[in-house]
Parts: sequence; C-alpha cells; structure tokens
Amino acid sequence: MRNFEYYTPTKVVFGKDAECRVGELVKEQKCKSVLVHYGSGSVIRSGLLERITQSLDQAGIRYVSLGGVVPNPRLSKVREGIELCRKEHVDFILAVGGGSVIDSAKAIGYGTANTGDVWDFYTKKRAPEGCLPIGAVLTIAAAGSEMSDSSVITNEDGWMKRGCNSNYCRCRFAVMNPELTYTLPDYQTQSGCVDIMMHTMERYLNREENMEMTDGISETLLRNVMEQALVLKQDPCNYEARAEVMWAGSLSHNGLTGCGTGGGDWASHQIEHELGGMFDVAHGAGLAAVWGSWARYVYKECPKRFAMLAERVLQVENQGSDEQTALRGIEAMEAFYRKIGMPASLEELGIHPTEEQILDMAEKCCFWGKRTVGTVRALKSEDVAEIYRMASR
Ligand code: NZQ
Ligand code: ZN
Repeated sequence: MRNFEYYTPTKVVFGKDAECRVGELVKEQKCKSVLVHYGSGSVIRSGLLERITQSLDQAGIRYVSLGGVVPNPRLSKVREGIELCRKEHVDFILAVGGGSVIDSAKAIGYGTANTGDVWDFYTKKRAPEGCLPIGAVLTIAAAGSEMSDSSVITNEDGWMKRGCNSNYCRCRFAVMNPELTYTLPDYQTQSGCVDIMMHTMERYLNREENMEMTDGISETLLRNVMEQALVLKQDPCNYEARAEVMWAGSLSHNGLTGCGTGGGDWASHQIEHELGGMFDVAHGAGLAAVWGSWARYVYKECPKRFAMLAERVLQVENQGSDEQTALRGIEAMEAFYRKIGMPASLEELGIHPTEEQILDMAEKCCFWGKRTVGTVRALKSEDVAEIYRMASR
C-alpha cells in the first residue's frame, strides 16, 4: 500500500429538490456577483435554469449568465467567460450542467483569478495560484468534475484537449438531484456510466499497489454501476438507479478509489482525450472504444489485477492462469459495453482515423516525445499508435 493524501472539501447536497437550495448555498459563500454558466440548452428546455435563477433572486444574489458550453468544452468560451467575469466583477461561478460546463467554469475561475494566458495552465507552462470559488448543479452523472481537482479544455487552435489539476478548482458545493438526469438521452447516460467505471478501473488496474479497503469499494462501485446501467436502459426515470449512478460518479473521481493505489494509470484517458480533440466524440464512448485494445496491450504487466477484475466484478470463472482469466475479463467487459450500446472499437464509435491521423494523435498524446502515458506500462508514442491501430481493426 502506498502513502496517500485524501482531500475532498466539496459540500454535497444530494436528493430530490436539492436545486431549490442553490440560493442559500451561494449566499453561504458570501459573494457579491455570480456567473451562472451552462451548456447548449438542455437546462433551458428542462426549466432547471429558471428554477436556479429564481432561487438566486429569492436569496437577493446578483448574477450574470453565460451559456453555450459544448461537450469537449472550448478555450474560446473560457476566454469569453474570463472577460465577462472581469467586466462584471464576478467573485463566484455557478456551473449548471455536466463535466463540460463544470470544467469550463473551473477554467474561467483560473483565468480570472490569475494573470496571463489561462492556456498556460493546461500546457503545464505554469501552475495556477488560485481559482474563483465554484459551485455546481449537476445534470449528468459521468465526469465526476463536481468533486474532482481536474478541468479538461479543448483548444480549437490545433484541437488539443488538455487537463489541469489542482485543489484550487475543487467545487465549494455540489447540488445533486438524480431527477435532473431523467432527461438524458440513453447514449449520454451509458457514456456516463462507462466514464464512471473507467475512473475506477484506471485506479484499480495497477502494479499491485493495492489496499483491500480501496479494492472493495472499487469492486462494489463497478458492480453497482454495471447493474444500474442495465436498469436505466429499460427504465430511464428509475430514481434509485439514477441516484446510485450519480453518487458513484462523484466517488469514482474524488480520490476515494485511489487511496493507497499510487494514483492510477490514466493511459486510456490520455488516449481518449486525443480522440475527443480530433473527432469530438463523447468522452465515455471514446473510452469504451479504446479500453479493450489498451488492456490487451498491457495486461501481461499485471495479470493478477486484471484477473481480480475479471473474477470479482465480471463474474468470470478462474481459467487456471491469471493471464487466461484476465483475457476472459477483457472480453467480458467489451461484451458489457456492447450490451449497453457503447462501442468496443473505433469503428463502432463511428470514426475511421487514417494512419496519418493515428500518428498525429499518438505524438500529441506523448507531447512529441516529452512524456510517456500510463503506469501499468509506460507507453511511448509508438505504443499509443499501435493501440489506436488495434482499436481500428
Ligand atoms: O449542453 P447541454 O445542452 O446541457 O447538453 C449536454 C451535452 O450535450 C447533455 N446533457 C447534460 N445534462 C443533460 C443533458 N441532456 C439532457 N438532460 C440532461 N440532464 O449531455 C451532453 C454531454 O454533457 P457533458 O457535460 O459534455 O458530459 P460529461 O459530464 O460526460 O462531461 C464530459 C467532459 O468532461 C471531461 C471530458 O473529457 C469531457 O470534456 N472530463 C472531466 C473530468 C474532470 N473534470 O474531472 C474527468 C473526466 O475523465 C473527463 O475527462
Ligand atoms: Zn473520464
């Protein structure tokens, strides 16, 4: 077991009608001017935005609004938000939406609280020294941004998708009403379930740096999300299933499933981020499309952990050797992805990258030779390119 730090300062307000408390929660933050940040319209259509602004009005809070965040949120919108925050002297950002809106809010928070170009924080040229305080009203269980230290932004100049991690951007509060996720299209629900599973598996599949307690939490979380994903396929307004998945989403990415495991692998995420940047795919679906190829490429580095996943989560029988059990587990996971309508290859994801695009994504992923990705096996750009090729077959 590795030493670890666990820090989750976010106040969670969970359950039916939780969004009605947003005015009170913002007021607790003692701010004077709020930016209400949202996406491409789902919160307008559902009436949620109106309920939120009513709650702010009732609490006597001044606010300005900025919508239009798209999935794989763009740097240009972040810059627009920073300008607006400076002009309106905004001192708190309320994100109403999913991972994309929350990540955009975090980037605006960084850009407003620091001098210089906000993109520097995403290229790791500089580290942020602060962030405006952020609150979130979550509308999709997926990215876990409501409790994570991460923000992922796409720069249209070169279509690069990059992340920035720091404790400064962690949400002060997260409002989570599972009913707000009833309106999600099934594809987004299932893509979210994959992302939640992947945040757990990226940490679980390691070079045997484990802690029984953490493994048990991760296995329960994975089994539960798999079960609820199937329930939601048939019954999207099942409150219990929506609630289980929503809470799993936060716990999968607030650090809990990484305690004692050395921080995780994250290669699948880095490999997917390039797909998101170049082809604008839904994040969870992109992860499903590359995971099996990544797993086949690396499982021999830690067959025991892959075999544990197979037996304890996927109910695969022991095949006599860890390597055989691990392989059956990878197949079982791909079969599950297909069962919930998620792709298990790039073709099923609907994209056909050329060899030139594969090499371009692999180079970008490894920062043109400046870094490797993953800890189960440190992957260079030629490894990453091979994984894209395997996923294309
Ligand atoms: O923009 P609107 O109209 O709201 O539509 C959204 C969007 O099209 C829609 N949606 C959200 N809630 C809805 C709804 N539609 C109907 N009813 C609702 N209740 O769903 C679509 C996807 O939304 P998005 O916010 O993009 O989804 P998600 O939460 O999966 O976020 C994905 C982004 O988060 C990043 C991903 O890379 C991607 O850019 N990630 C962020 C992480 C973090 N900050 O910790 C970690 C993750 O690994 C991930 O990388
Ligand atoms: Zn993710």
